Order: sequence, then C-alpha cells, then structure tokens
Amino acid sequence: MNILIIGDIVGTSGVNKVKEVLPKLKKDNNIDFVIANGENSADGMGITSKIFKDLIISGVDVITMGNHTWGKKDIFNIIDNKKLLRPANYPRDVLGNGYGIYQCNGKKIAVINLIGRASMNVLSENPFIIANEIVDKIKNEVDAIFIDFHAEATAEKIAMGYYLDGKITCLFGTHTHVTTADETILENGTAYITDIGMTGPKKSVIGMEVEASIKRFVTTLPEKYKVSDDKELMLNGCIISLNSETCRAEKIDRIKL
Ligand code: FE2
Repeated sequence: MNILIIGDIVGTSGVNKVKEVLPKLKKDNNIDFVIANGENSADGMGITSKIFKDLIISGVDVITMGNHTWGKKDIFNIIDNKKLLRPANYPRDVLGNGYGIYQCNGKKIAVINLIGRASMNVLSENPFIIANEIVDKIKNEVDAIFIDFHAEATAEKIAMGYYLDGKITCLFGTHTHVTTADETILENGTAYITDIGMTGPKKSVIGMEVEASIKRFVTTLPEKYKVSDDKELMLNGCIISLNSETCRAEKIDRIKL
C-alpha cells in the first residue's frame, strides 16, 4: 500500500500543479491514499471551499492545515468536513476536526494534524501530550497512523519523531516549505522526515514573491506578501510504502516534480 503526501500547496498555481500531475502520479506509483497540506492554498494564507473541493476531486483524500487555518472565512463552510483537518492541539472544543479515520483497501488509516509551539506564534496546547492522548485513544481501532506536524523548528519535529517512534506509522513535517534530506525509518519502525517541502512557484521565497520578501527583510517595513507569479512550478512530497498486511512502513521516498 502506497501513501502519497504532498507538501504545502501554495496559491492557485500550487493547486493547479496538483490538479495537473496528481492523476498520473497516482497511477505511476500505485498510490492508494493521498494526504496534502493545504493551509497556504488560498493566496498563500488559508483555504476556500472551492479549493477544498477542487483538491478532493483531483484525488486528494485528506487536507491538513496549520498556522493559516483561519486565513479565509470561507473555511467555516467546510470546517466540519471529515476530509479537512485543523491542528488537533488547538484549544478543546474549537471548531473542526484534529484527526480523522479513513478506509483504504480494507484498512483503517488515521491522520492527525498537529501544530508546533517553537517560533510559531500560535497559542496551542502541548503537541506532544495531545499526540500521545490521541494515539492512545485510537491505536486499537486503526491499522496505520500518519501525523502532519506543522512546525517551524527542526528540533521540535525531530524530538516528536523519536517520541512517537514505534507508536505511529509516519511522522512528516510541514510548514518550512523547504524539503529536508533526512527521510528515514526510525529504529522502532516509524517513517520520518523533518519537512516535505512545498508545492507551487519555484522562483519564490517559500512561495512568496521574491522582491516583496527581500523588501521586508531589507527595510523591515510591513510589505504585503503576494504569491510569486513564476510560471515554473514544483511539487514536493514523499511516498510511504506500507506492508499491505501489517501496514508497517517499509520505505519512505522523497519526490520532486
Ligand atoms: Fe504554515
């Protein structure tokens, strides 16, 4: 069983890239299930119901979010959809779902979305404690558990990988938009990568227009961010191969298109 994970989709061009390449990518790699981070898909900040529907129709099974979850008000029209996840370590009883359980080839796959606390500027509950609570609650009813840890600090993500090693199937990092080259199967069997990178315009500063980004750094003035209009697009992510009987992770491969 092969699970495709698509890195942070940025703007309309990122959404279009997914729509363009996903059918063939799924076919060529015998993909059974697709997870994508969509928190930057609407103008770089948030998601809309139209983008959500477009991504699901194009073949994505679950969309995870992050620090820009509430970036577009339209999310409230889809927040209860089971295929949309917002960080599970938001305060208790906030709208939406932090994890979901999905059917795939006769197996049950859980996907959990978490947000980091180091350098994220988002008030959230402790992701380590929340992850542990959810995993304990669902571990006997699912065959595989995937976690999108949307976080800035590499150390926080690496620590989470070791913390959950052997308890979950795969921990992948999102948010920095830059792929790390540390994909591995940890010693107790959890597939791990610190960040799977982004999907969108190539000539950009993590998806945003280069000139505006430089201006912010040079002048420190609050220049408005704008998604880069570069026509050359990239898709970054990874494919996790699971044993079709045990659902244990056998392989993790980075992909770049
Ligand atoms: Fe983010």
